[in-house]
Parts: sequence; structure tokens; C-alpha cells
Amino acid sequence: MSQFTPRVFSGIKPSGDLTLGNYLGAIKRFVPLQKTHECIYCVVDMHAITVWQEPEDLHEATYEVAAAYLAAGVDPREHVIFVQSQVVQHVELAWIFNCVARMGWMQRMTQFKDKAGKNSQNVSLGLFAYPSLMAADILLYKATHVPVGEDQKQHLELTRDIAQKFNNDFARSIAARGYDPEVFPLPEPVITGPATKVLSLRDGTKKMSKSDASSMATIYMMDDADAIARKFKKAKSDPEPLPSEEKGLEGRPEAANLVGIYAALADTTPQAVLNQFGGQGFGAFKPALAELAVEQLGPIADEMRRYLADKATLDAILHDGAERARAIARTTMDQVKDVVGFVK
Ligand code: TRP
Repeated sequence: MSQFTPRVFSGIKPSGDLTLGNYLGAIKRFVPLQKTHECIYCVVDMHAITVWQEPEDLHEATYEVAAAYLAAGVDPREHVIFVQSQVVQHVELAWIFNCVARMGWMQRMTQFKDKAGKNSQNVSLGLFAYPSLMAADILLYKATHVPVGEDQKQHLELTRDIAQKFNNDFARSIAARGYDPEVFPLPEPVITGPATKVLSLRDGTKKMSKSDASSMATIYMMDDADAIARKFKKAKSDPEPLPSEEKGLEGRPEAANLVGIYAALADTTPQAVLNQFGGQGFGAFKPALAELAVEQLGPIADEMRRYLADKATLDAILHDGAERARAIARTTMDQVKDVVGFVK
């Protein structure tokens, strides 16, 4: 049995407006975990600034992510919602992890390679060090479970490598000071349900993104009913009717994406959706999908708007969350600094 209590940590960057991808891939799945785990959900603003953010936009987007957590049903009394930059220990642990992680490990990160592209000499040093800060986010709270999308699995593996190397490198010091040999747990990814990866409505080979050039490619959590209906109606599909079996979606990425979105919204499987819609064309399926999306997202968007109109309430919730996060973070850092050999 592990000495660690099951604890969930996850974070979303306040960079641009939240999308249906953020909702289905992350926020919606954060909610049920509250029943089984102690949960800590963070607005990772220090991750956001690894690429340029207009200060006013960053400020508003930070509140938007917090409002989305709350509107979707995260309970800030039983669990913790906070803003990363308000808990200074994240940077402290990230620096120590910069000295544990190896250059070779970081250079293998595919997300960095994708984001930097040919421009790798001109991106920020922070973008390169990003996964080390992410490891610090998780391990500061000794989290055991991390709900993330597919694209973050490699970063979570790196987090495990850092935890393991820290435990090994400092094994003698850890033992000499009488701590449990595993200072850090090796956290597990939680990847559940269909449509953990929501694709662009215009191109079934690309992820649905906050920064897509076409606004028709992306459904935003705060889109109104008209916009949602219009975007699904115009979504790229194909002339064939929907198949009755999942295998029939192979080679039809746009169709598979829309069926996956429906399944995720309805908390069911793509096969169950095909049982209902197999044989029907997109002329029938798209309006049903739009209706379901409006039914689910509408009330959440309304609730988000209520929170965003009352920043004092949001601040009070976030400050309380930061205080409770800090209490855990301080305990971890006291232990880590002691183990590393820093003078008290
Ligand atoms: N890198 C994550 C993303 O882009 C965001 C993130 C930062 C995160 N720190 C985290 C996710 C810790 C889970 C746990 O989606």
C-alpha cells in the first residue's frame, strides 16, 4: 500500500477563451473525481506566460478558467481551486527540478518541438522548462492522479522520471533525516471517456484550438446558442450516412470527431451514439448534436457570466484556495529543502 492519500491535481492555462475541447477533455472530467478523491484544480498562469500574453487578456482569462471550474460544479469548499502565481512554492520546487531533470529528457519533449518548430532559438527559456514547472505543480501536492489529455502524457511521464530521480539522488539524505524513502509519489494519468481529444470542426486532422485562424473551427464555452448551432451546421463532414458500427468511422476523421463529441456530451460511447443514429445523414445528426451541446453548455456559460460579473466573490474563493494550497505546499517544501541540504 502506498503511503500517499489519493489526491488529484490538474491545471488549465488561462490563454485565450475556453473551448469545447477544454470542457470535454478536462473540466467535465474534473467534476466526478470529487466523489472519490481530494481534488486540487489550478489556473496555471505561470504556464500561460511561456508564450506572450497581453496582460489584460491574461487577467480576464484567469478569472474565466476559475469561473468555468465553479460553473461546471467543482466545489471550492470541499476541494481547492486556486491561481498558480499566488502560491510561490511552485517556482521554488520548479527550480530544484530544473536541477534534477536532464537536458536530454527535456529535448525529447514533442510538445516543445512542435511549439518551437523552426523558431527554437527565439522561444522563451520558460517554454523549454515548462514540463519541469508542471512536475512541480503536481509533486508539490504529492498528487497521485492527474487527469490530462493525450497530449500531456509525455509530460506526466517526465514528472514520474523527475520524482524517481529525486527520490534516488537524495536517498541517503532522505534516510538520514528519517523520512519515508519515497518523498514523491509517481503520479498516474487519468484518461477516461471518449472525445478526450476534440478536433477542429473544419479539419479532422487538427486539434480544436483556442488560436485557430477560423472562428468556425472552434466552439467556445461562452458561445451563445446561435453560434453553437451555426458552427455545428457548418462543420466539415462527408456525404455518407453515419455507419452502424464504430469500424465504419475509420478513415472518416470529421465524422468520428462529431460522433465522439456527441458521446462525450451525452456521457455515453460512440457505439451507443451509432446505435441511435446509424443510417442517418448529417442533416439529421448535426441539429441533434447542436441541441445537446446547447443544453449542456448553456447553463454553464450563464453561470460563468454570473461569476465573471462578481470578481469580489471570485477573488474571495481564489484567495481561500491559495491559502489552503499554500499550507500543503509549505509542508512539502520544508521537507524538500531539508533533504537537499539548504540551511534553515
Ligand atoms: N500542461 C497542461 C496543458 O497544457 C497544463 C498544466 C500545467 C497541467 N500544469 C499541470 C496539467 C499540472 C495537469 C497537471 O494542458
